Parts: sequence; structure tokens; C-alpha cells
Amino acid sequence: MKFTRREILKLSSAAALSPACLLAQDEEPGLTQLSGIRLEPFVDPLPVPRIVKPVSGAAGSQHYRITLSEFRQKVHRDLPPTILWGFNGAMPGPTITANRGQTVTIDWVNNLPLRHRLAVDHNLDGAGKNVPEVRSVIHLHGGHVASSSDGNPEDWISPGHTQHTVYPNNQPAATLWYHDHAMGITRLNAIMGLAGFYIIRDPEEDRLRLPSSPYDIPLVIQDRIFDARGQLAYPVGPMSDSPWVPEFFGTTILVNGRVSPFLDVEPRRYRFRFLNASNARVYQLSLVPGQPLVQIGTDGGLLSAPAQRRALLLVPGERVDAVIDFSGREGRHITLMNNARAPYPSGGGLIPRLVMQFRVRRPLTSPLDSSEVPPRLAQVTPLREEMAVKTRRLTLQEDPAANGRLLLNGLRYMDPVTEDPVNGSIEIWEIANTTIDTHPIHLHAVHFQLLDRRRFDVARQRRTSEIVFTRRAIPAPPEEQGWKDIVLCPPAHVTRIIVPFHGEPGRFVWHCHMLEHEDNEMMRPFLLRP
Ligand code: C2O
Ligand code: CU
Repeated sequence: MKFTRREILKLSSAAALSPACLLAQDEEPGLTQLSGIRLEPFVDPLPVPRIVKPVSGAAGSQHYRITLSEFRQKVHRDLPPTILWGFNGAMPGPTITANRGQTVTIDWVNNLPLRHRLAVDHNLDGAGKNVPEVRSVIHLHGGHVASSSDGNPEDWISPGHTQHTVYPNNQPAATLWYHDHAMGITRLNAIMGLAGFYIIRDPEEDRLRLPSSPYDIPLVIQDRIFDARGQLAYPVGPMSDSPWVPEFFGTTILVNGRVSPFLDVEPRRYRFRFLNASNARVYQLSLVPGQPLVQIGTDGGLLSAPAQRRALLLVPGERVDAVIDFSGREGRHITLMNNARAPYPSGGGLIPRLVMQFRVRRPLTSPLDSSEVPPRLAQVTPLREEMAVKTRRLTLQEDPAANGRLLLNGLRYMDPVTEDPVNGSIEIWEIANTTIDTHPIHLHAVHFQLLDRRRFDVARQRRTSEIVFTRRAIPAPPEEQGWKDIVLCPPAHVTRIIVPFHGEPGRFVWHCHMLEHEDNEMMRPFLLRP
């Protein structure tokens, strides 16, 4: 039987209603059902992940020991605690903070159970019956690290083992995050909760007087489905022996692990570090009643200048750093709304809209808000096309041979390496999206700049594999003129990025950050050559 990606998606949402797909192994079978349950929004206060303390450390380096395990945690006032996976007993995990230039070493202790809570698809590469069902490997997303500490998908460990990583933090202040990356089950480990923030600070940023702690708050946005007992549900596909579904779209939004929470704020400026850690959902976030968000940073750190925005678009894996000014808004309730279609940009899936609410009902703790958003933030020197020594054209495409699977450049993960940049060189990657959906493309080990996006004739490309542009190129807008590690690649466009490859030579990966795609061949190795 053959299904298209959209067909599987439709059939699988129906399948989600059957108890078979529900995460409730220790519950009575048959009693659970998919949550059509309406959860009251804005009844839980926003949790802020605590900052984890190093177990040892001198001036030059800090050592952490962080344990992955299963536990129960409340996600909403009206739900019993949910079975989750996380770090040091919390989902999201605790925030790691690092200073630029100061080495951090971490022991990631895998204390997870031996059986997965969600249906593993053993047909996927690297997730066969010959490997342990539960595996994990932690990747520092946005970190410039050596291959051996990168959390390569094949470097997983099973429960009872420990992964050791070294993070040199030789990069500007930025909002990074850590998450699981195990081959073939990343999407399932992510739903269970294996993610947390990793924030790098540096003196240049500290000098700017941007809103700082406690007015600097990370916000991780994730979508989920809960059954009536408060347990996670993840759909399965229509074919019984291959549960993989092409995308996961939840019906409920969590911020920092709580369903649509609220935050009481003072009438002053706040800095929010938004992270979209959802499997496949794109968010378009705006404030109601309307008020601008001032974007100051992106994946790799601060922008050169602040960008006024009415809405923030966040693809899976992406970070946006933004300042919201609540001064003069005393007494107001301001709601953060999502408005993005799923799949983005043209799908007809359900859109959970209520992300969280800000309530301006706390008095100013100091008489004056002395923070500011200066007109110049950081030095971001644009790379010029002439600096590139090589241009690669890479396609995002459906695999004609398999149900709903997507490929990079027509190749599978296990095919020999084709992207092999030389360390110290600059390349242009032209990513041609021949599918009908947006894909967020992420490169490990580096940051890059967006050059432009340009529409092309997809039908013609399919026939002749030739790219014929039908519009003018759209240069990177101000909010994307910074250092990126993930880029939105819209359908029927060539997205061009310019990438300085420098670091420690070795094997890394580049992939789509829609985790269902990543788990099913939309990921490729790349080799950083000496
Ligand atoms: Cu955030 Cu390769 O991943
Ligand atoms: Cu994708």
C-alpha cells in the first residue's frame, strides 16, 4: 500500500484516537482516550527552569553531572502528573549557563527505562530490533564543538551508560539548547521531554544593559497531545508494523513545561529567549492587544541592530531573542498568540492559538527600569559571496520510493558523504525545496548567514532537474541578518546560505529539524576536512 505524506497525516490523527497509541502502559487499557479535553488556559504560573550548578569547577572550566530519567510532573492544574523524561528530574531540563571561553564538561548519565513509552518504528535506519529500544545522545544545538562531543546520532548510549562531552564555548553570547539526537528515535525522545537551555554569556553583551535576570527569561515552546489522564499521546501511522508518522502536531501548547501558563510582570522591559522545541510545528507569535516585539538576537547571538516586529516566526529548533516593554501597560493582560498554519505554510491542521499570557500586575521593584535596547547591539560582519570557494546545490525532496519519506539531495543518511567542506573555507549552500512544506534546515558545528530566497519552477525542476527562477531573489530581512544555525526553507524556493566552516575537523550532520523528517532520512553526514 502506498500513501502520500498528507494521507498518512490524516489517517494517523484518526489512529491517535485509539488507545493503542497512547502513553499509558501503567494505566488500565481502554480507559484512556485522546484528550479532546479542554484545558483552561492561563491558570498555571510560568515555571522558569532553574540554573544547574556545576559539581566542580575552577576558573577555567566547570564540570556538570546531569541525569536523564523518567518521572511524573504536573503540566496543568486540572491534570494528574504526566510521565515525562527529562534532566535532573525536570522537563525542560535545568538551564546551563557558560561564560565565553570557559570550558564546560558534562557527564550525561542515562538513567532512562529500558522500554520506550512511545511506539518505536524498527524500520527506520538505526532503530532496528538489533539495537536497544531506548537510546540517547545529547547534542548541544548551536555549539561549536569537536565531533566527539557533538552528539552524533550514531554515538548513542543505552540506559546505564554515561556520555562525556566537552564544550569549549569559544563563541559569542547566545541562546543554545541541548537535546537528544539518537538515531531513528529523536522524535520520540523529544516528545518525552529531553531538552533544555544552554546560555552563553560574554562581557560584550553584559555591557549593553539589556534587561537582565530576573527580567531575562527563556521560553521554550512545545506542542503536545494529552489524554484525559494527563498522559502524552503520539499518533501512529496506518500501517501496523510501521508506526512512523510524517509530522507531529500537538493540540496543546506548553511553555517551559506548562500548558498555556501566565506570567505576572512589572511595567518594564523584559528580555525573552524564545525557543521552538516542537517536533514539527512552526509558530507565528504576536501579542494581543497588539504591541511590537523588539528582536535583538537570533540563533547564534545578538543581531547588529534591533528589529521591530509585529510577529515572530519560529521554525522548529530556532531561537529568537526579543524585548517586550510592558511600561505604561499597568493592569493589562497581554496574550501571546500563535497564528501559523500546520503544516506550514499552507496546511489545514488544527492551530493551538493560546501560547501564554503576560499580566502587568506587579509593581516596579526598582523605581526606574534602567535597562535599554541600544541601537547597535553586536558586530555582525556580512559575508560577501566572493568569499566563497565553493557553491553546492542541495535539494529537499519527497522520496518517490517510500511512503511519505523525505530526502536531502536524493540520498539517504547511510549513503557516502557528499558534503565535505575544507576547514577554514567558506561555502555557499543553495537549498532547493521541491516539496510543498517549509523545512527548517540545520547545520551542526557552524553558524552561517542567510543570503536570499528565490522562487523557482518546481514542475519544471521535477521534469528536467533544472532550476529556473520565476521571481527576483528576496534578500535576508533584518531579523535574519545575524548568525544562524537553522534556516527556514520555504516551498518552491532556493534558500541560499553562506557558511564559514571552521572548527575541529571531523564528522557532523546537517538535517531538517522537523524531527519526524530527521528520523526518516532527512539528515546527512558532512565531513569537515582538515
Ligand atoms: Cu537541534 Cu541536529 O539538532
Ligand atoms: Cu523537513
